Amino acid sequence: MTLRRLHRLNALLLGLFLALHLANHAALLAGQAAHSGMMAALRPLYRNPLVEPLLIALFAAQIALGLTLVWRRGRPVGGWALAQLASGLYLAFFLLQHLPAVLLARPATDTDIAFAAATVESLPKALYFAPYYVLAVAALATHLAAALRFARWPAPPGRLARTLPWIGAAFGLVILAGLLGVFG
Ligand code: HEM
Ligand code: HEM
Repeated sequence: MTLRRLHRLNALLLGLFLALHLANHAALLAGQAAHSGMMAALRPLYRNPLVEPLLIALFAAQIALGLTLVWRRGRPVGGWALAQLASGLYLAFFLLQHLPAVLLARPATDTDIAFAAATVESLPKALYFAPYYVLAVAALATHLAAALRFARWPAPPGRLARTLPWIGAAFGLVILAGLLGVFG
């Protein structure tokens, strides 16, 4: 199996967690209490001793595979290839902070919504963490949009691929607003 196929297969597995993780953050629209309730219900799925080590290992593998693909492919040609590379590199940058931040904070701290919200509630920290979170969601959406775009190559990109990065950026802003308590 090629590294690219392995990266794609792994993306499907990670997609299961990411769908739950982002749905959990979407619950911020109903307020932080709704987010906490949903996280409590989801934790037995992804924080159990069998799943969690596997999940972290698969994310680590995805970063390693992604960086190898970047190295092998060399200089990107065209806007979509650049978007794929930039979003992948940002995901690596984000995850290499996000995962240790969450894992090392435990067990002393409950890494709940208040833990994430504390990073954007005061200056100067918010100047770093507000774009850090918004860009993570936008980068994930852009990376998947690029995958959709290249799946159709050489036909022109579909509407979903062209719209997804903007949906990601908008969703990132909604999550940021939720962390700031705008929805309660
Ligand atoms: C959340 C983590 C990630 C997910 C879900 C993900 C998902 C994907 C998917 C679905 C593809 C399309 C594969 C295909 O067309 O067959 C892809 C391609 C790619 N990804 Fe990622 N990826 C992630 C992280 C990364 C990281 C951290 C990097 C590197 C910095 C990266 C770099 C790339 C590159 C260079 C390609 C293009 C491969 C090629 O066609 O040559 N990805 N990614
Ligand atoms: C605005 C965006 C995000 C926020 C506010 C956020 C917040 C959090 C929080 C609070 C946890 C701890 C969960 C718990 O204790 O149960 C967590 C865990 C995690 N997040 Fe995120 N996250 C965001 C985006 C992302 C993205 C884009 C990815 C991947 C591409 C990601 C991957 C993970 C992973 C792998 C874990 C570890 C799961 C575990 O606890 O074992 N997150 N995140």
